[in-house]
Amino acid sequence: MSKRVTDKVTWVGKIDWELKKFHGDELSTMEGSSYNSYLIRDKKTVLMDTVWGPYDTEFVKRLKEEINLNEIDYIVMNHNESDHSGTLPALMREIPDTPIYCTKKGESILRGLYHQDWNYVNVKTGDELDIGDSKLIFVEASMLHWPDTMMTYMTGDNILFSNDVFGQHYASEMLYDDMDDISKLIHEAEKYYTNIINPFSTFVTKKLAEVQGMNLKLDLVAPSHGVIWRKNIGLIMDLYARWANSYQEDQITLIYDTMWQSTRKMAEAIAEGIQQASPNTTIKILSVVKNDKNDILVEVFKSKAILVGSPTINNGFSYAIAGILEMIKGLKFKNKKAASFGSYGWSGEAAKMIKEFLEESKFAIVNDGIRVNWAPDQETIEKLREYGRNFVAEIAE
Ligand code: FEO
Repeated sequence: MSKRVTDKVTWVGKIDWELKKFHGDELSTMEGSSYNSYLIRDKKTVLMDTVWGPYDTEFVKRLKEEINLNEIDYIVMNHNESDHSGTLPALMREIPDTPIYCTKKGESILRGLYHQDWNYVNVKTGDELDIGDSKLIFVEASMLHWPDTMMTYMTGDNILFSNDVFGQHYASEMLYDDMDDISKLIHEAEKYYTNIINPFSTFVTKKLAEVQGMNLKLDLVAPSHGVIWRKNIGLIMDLYARWANSYQEDQITLIYDTMWQSTRKMAEAIAEGIQQASPNTTIKILSVVKNDKNDILVEVFKSKAILVGSPTINNGFSYAIAGILEMIKGLKFKNKKAASFGSYGWSGEAAKMIKEFLEESKFAIVNDGIRVNWAPDQETIEKLREYGRNFVAEIAE
């Protein structure tokens, strides 16, 4: 079902209530998502982005209910990852000569994905497309989060079609932010930022400054996932500016795996010491296997320091700790401190190996970590609490 956005703009996307995983299994999307596509009818007619391939038949059928496809003058592809371009092959079979406006990099990605010699028109920042009363102004946004990404500004209605930027994996029948639960939207926007945008934070800072410098009047910011920002445009832009600037809160997160509960007991005793020394600090103790990996990463994003613990197994750390460490490294967090811990029986390499991995991941290592042989007794529990208290002092230095 299409939805009216303005007199000229109609939402023609797909709400995916079933989606629980995105990017293969890399990202959990427990609240579903949407692939937003917009039809702009001025003197010329423009389709802005499409939807994910599994919905191609449905998308084309519904679009035909909305418009004679031959009336579409231009297609604009702000970003060509499969969730937005997947329907292009089905659509282009119907209207094969329609020009596709995208960046040069966008063209190479579309050619690489679909191997079709479509009618590509390359655009760059500042290029304009006159569509009647309104103009579309293109703004390249390379590496937010792919090299092909751009945003499109529509004059008159003052809409910034921002694609993935400001998006949320969040299924809702509500079109606008002010019609839904703002705390859920912010949570999903933050999860999206952490897991997709964070490695490119320096580009975010530059692009926000560039867009603000253009003095565009913004009545709507329409991303390609989730709701359209209408009431809270200033808030989401302010949050992006803060998230991009080495974000942290007064939080310490302990992430652990455990085989026979010793490393879990270590995590809890260290946390007790942290709490004693810094009662107002938010502390999260997260089993790496009992919690969603992408939610754990959001907690890392919020933290000023993390402690990662694993028992030693086969001269290394557990597979689950290996997985979260790899994700932490890839997300390129900044301005965070770290240490490691873990129980062991004989060889005991895990804590040292975790420390080295976190160091490679650009965390400031606070100390050499702490290990416990077999299971902690009461005396060791006291030492772990003391370690936690000292950790607070060390990260404050
Ligand atoms: Fe929503 Fe990068 O695709």
